[in-house]
Amino acid sequence: MADEKKLYIKTYGCQMNVYDSERMAEALGGQGYVATDTPDDADMILLNTCHIREKAAEKVYSELGRFKGLKAANPDLKIGVAGCVAQAEGQEIMRRQPMVDLVVGPQSYHRLPAMEAKTREGGKALDTDFPEEDKFEHLKSRPKAKRGPTAFLTVQEGCDKFCAFCVVPYTRGAEVSRPVDRVLTEARDLVERGVREITLLGQNVNAYHGAGDGGDWSLARLIWALNDIDGLERIRFTTSHPNDMDDALIAAHGDCPKLMPYLHLPVQSGSDRILKRMNRSHTAESYLKLIDRIRTARPDILISGDFIVGFPEETEEDFQATLDLVEQVKYGQCYSFKYSTRPGTPAAERAQVGEAEKTDRLARLQALLSDQQRAIQDAMVGREVGVLFEKTGREPGQLIGKSDHLHAVYVHADPSMIGQVARVRIIESASNSLGGELI
Ligand code: SAH
Ligand code: SF4
Ligand code: F3S
Repeated sequence: MADEKKLYIKTYGCQMNVYDSERMAEALGGQGYVATDTPDDADMILLNTCHIREKAAEKVYSELGRFKGLKAANPDLKIGVAGCVAQAEGQEIMRRQPMVDLVVGPQSYHRLPAMEAKTREGGKALDTDFPEEDKFEHLKSRPKAKRGPTAFLTVQEGCDKFCAFCVVPYTRGAEVSRPVDRVLTEARDLVERGVREITLLGQNVNAYHGAGDGGDWSLARLIWALNDIDGLERIRFTTSHPNDMDDALIAAHGDCPKLMPYLHLPVQSGSDRILKRMNRSHTAESYLKLIDRIRTARPDILISGDFIVGFPEETEEDFQATLDLVEQVKYGQCYSFKYSTRPGTPAAERAQVGEAEKTDRLARLQALLSDQQRAIQDAMVGREVGVLFEKTGREPGQLIGKSDHLHAVYVHADPSMIGQVARVRIIESASNSLGGELI
């Protein structure tokens, strides 16, 4: 095709950005763009950015700096910034990096084709609105192209919780749930295209309350409806807030056959004093009780979480409370971060913890978490699990897949098994993966 143009998208941040990048690529497909995996021959470069911590946001500017030469060599190259940095710093980006042609916030992606057209006429385009219309309606995937075995599906976006450290309520906007029929239609379409595992996404996914038959549906009800789709084998969801884990969702972890035994349930801190200052509205004790109830419903569930160390005013005693909580929960997987000051959030104004203390606490927390993670992984040896094969491994004859508990598993198996769930016996545990054999 003569007017075929090449699009290079680089994605940072959370899974929702991965999903959004796919939607943006599809939307620009209508403008004649096809994906390329190098910026060098691109007609358009799009950075889908993350604002969650300072380092994540700064990456954008250093990455843009690297495109200067490309832009000089090809004046027709268009450079765009999307995602949460675009939302938070739209004007500022255009000022700091005049070569940027387009800035688009997460709620305006359906306007991207029109914005791209404007840049082709030599203009600049900036849109960081929170429009009324449903962007997902205009971002429907058109081509019935074949897909890999796993996919993300955004069902809820935005957040009304306003944790004192977090930019998400400002960059993604208010909490919105997509209607049930749209979610189910998209899920069926994914399955027709070869998807076997769907991960439902939302900044507060378990607060889902989409309009459906007979009123608003909860996440549990949505999961049960997905469970009825033939050909779909696995359901996951992320990320959840402890206050939105209702009884039906807990019970589903015990009863729903396709819902996988893995739950990401961030707690952030084990100190009630700090949790209160974080505006988390749960306590360490209420969180531990919740974990107990979830484990009663599904004893082998793997729990994962997020932690922030060095939140303003965190003392050594507060930090000890976090270590104590971790000792009690026993996490199978965790993400932990030093607190990063985010302009415009309440905690940014408070007394900050020194960098040396943050570094020390993060190292101690991560040592404990990685011991737990390894112990839980090692305990899988000898067990039989389901594995969904995703691709070939490094060694010949080897496939890589994910277990029910989301561990990476290497197995000798025929490539024709990619896209299938097989029963596997785990025979060894390595640093970040398991080895298994077909049963
Ligand atoms: N509820 C969201 C959280 C997104 S941010 C979700 O479901 O995806 C992911 C994690 O980043 C948070 O759980 C928190 O641990 C961490 N985080 C958020 N803001 C931070 C900050 N200012 N400094 C350090 N870590 C932060
Ligand atoms: Fe951020 Fe808290 Fe909302 Fe999660 S629940 S997105 S951490 S404000
Ligand atoms: Fe980052 Fe925005 Fe996701 S700030 S974590 S890309 S919601």
